[in-house]
Amino acid sequence: MEKLVIEGGRELRGEIRISGAKNAALPLIAASLLAKGVHVLHNVPDLRDTRTILRLLESLGVSWERQDDTLRIDATDLNYSEASYELVKTMRASVLVLGPLLARLGQARVSLPGGCAIGARPIDFHILGFEQLGVTCRLENGYVDAEIDGRLQGNTVYFDLPSVTGTENLLMAATLAQGTTVIKNAAREPEIGNLVDMLTAMGAEIEGRDTDRLTIHGVEQLQAAESAVIPDRIETGTYLIAVAATGGEATLTHCNPGHLPALLEKLRATGVEISAHEQSLTIRASCDQPLRAVDIKTMPYPGYPTDLQAQFMALMTLSDQSAVVNETIFENRFMHVAELKRMGADIRVDGRTAFVTGLGRDGLTGAPVMATDLRASSSLVIAGLAAAGRTDISRIYHLERGYENLVDKLTGLGARVWKEQE
Ligand code: UD1
Repeated sequence: MEKLVIEGGRELRGEIRISGAKNAALPLIAASLLAKGVHVLHNVPDLRDTRTILRLLESLGVSWERQDDTLRIDATDLNYSEASYELVKTMRASVLVLGPLLARLGQARVSLPGGCAIGARPIDFHILGFEQLGVTCRLENGYVDAEIDGRLQGNTVYFDLPSVTGTENLLMAATLAQGTTVIKNAAREPEIGNLVDMLTAMGAEIEGRDTDRLTIHGVEQLQAAESAVIPDRIETGTYLIAVAATGGEATLTHCNPGHLPALLEKLRATGVEISAHEQSLTIRASCDQPLRAVDIKTMPYPGYPTDLQAQFMALMTLSDQSAVVNETIFENRFMHVAELKRMGADIRVDGRTAFVTGLGRDGLTGAPVMATDLRASSSLVIAGLAAAGRTDISRIYHLERGYENLVDKLTGLGARVWKEQE
């Protein structure tokens, strides 16, 4: 297994290009199952997760080829409707094939995602939604078996919480349903707008883009289309926070500042300078200027994203006051706290709230730490870049799920970072 080694304490300076969004690429790739023909997707990041979903598509009879960041996916021969545990266990988002498979083949058998104590709970909204469209779902042997006789039937679906992949799954299924489907309390993340655009290019009829009420008028057939993946707002945010933590000046190109309303406000409140242009961002942070403590509370979009909570917490360990981090989306998303403490951070957790006592810009020291999930890992990278001395981060396969060319990009900004065998 590989680990990531960082020699911290250097300012980050330079320019990097932001990749396509993992969380947009996955639903777009899944949406290609909805129509025969060759779909062309641009700006697709080459990540562990995108490779996993392409392996999953292959197992369903779909062929694809990649040239640079362009994918060509031919779903004409889609002939198999089972997503195995082997593939789903490594990536929860594999469940995104459920909606397209039901719409196109009338049946799907998809393994329940791992780490789920009571079986259906983590995808209960998806299942309830499909049942509203007339699907019969059975949970057996760790799989959800879903089928429908004939076409899906349009209906009104209400989500208790605005689930991102739940909205995407239902949206994809409803494009081929008979009649109209209304998704109420839909998630509004930009990745869903990206999916709406691709489905519209394929011939779907959808109203309410970027709102919490999506209306889908089902059509009989969709066609293959050409689309582009939006820039990765979480990758963008991670690099911005990294520069805020180390000091320096960097420009991030090929990004969409409009997709980061909450983070930009919060970062500016810490005292760093950010200038936003149409497709790029420049951040300036001085090592001599103390970071002001800023509280965050994670919320569905356009609120502060849970996928940038761990990174901001790492930044707050370097402020010179106390900050409160409140996680409202996931109940167990403070796994990075124990690792940050190994680097000297002063953090107390009470339920879904973390109280961070900032130790100033020189507050962290390098240490061996372990990556526990994707975004927790990136908070350790940020901490390692800001810490004095050497940090060894093991289990970096988590990082490789979501950050394209991380080592190259950080090196391009002047960081001392490399991979080593454990
Ligand atoms: C997506 C993102 C993930 C991000 C999350 C929240 C992808 C591939 N992943 O995950 O990076 O952290 O949104 O922004 O886009 N819930 C249920 N039952 C369900 C579905 C969700 O109880 O059937 C709950 C979840 O436990 C959570 C909340 O709803 O508390 C929101 O989760 P959701 O938006 O569904 O997250 P994902 O779509 O899995």
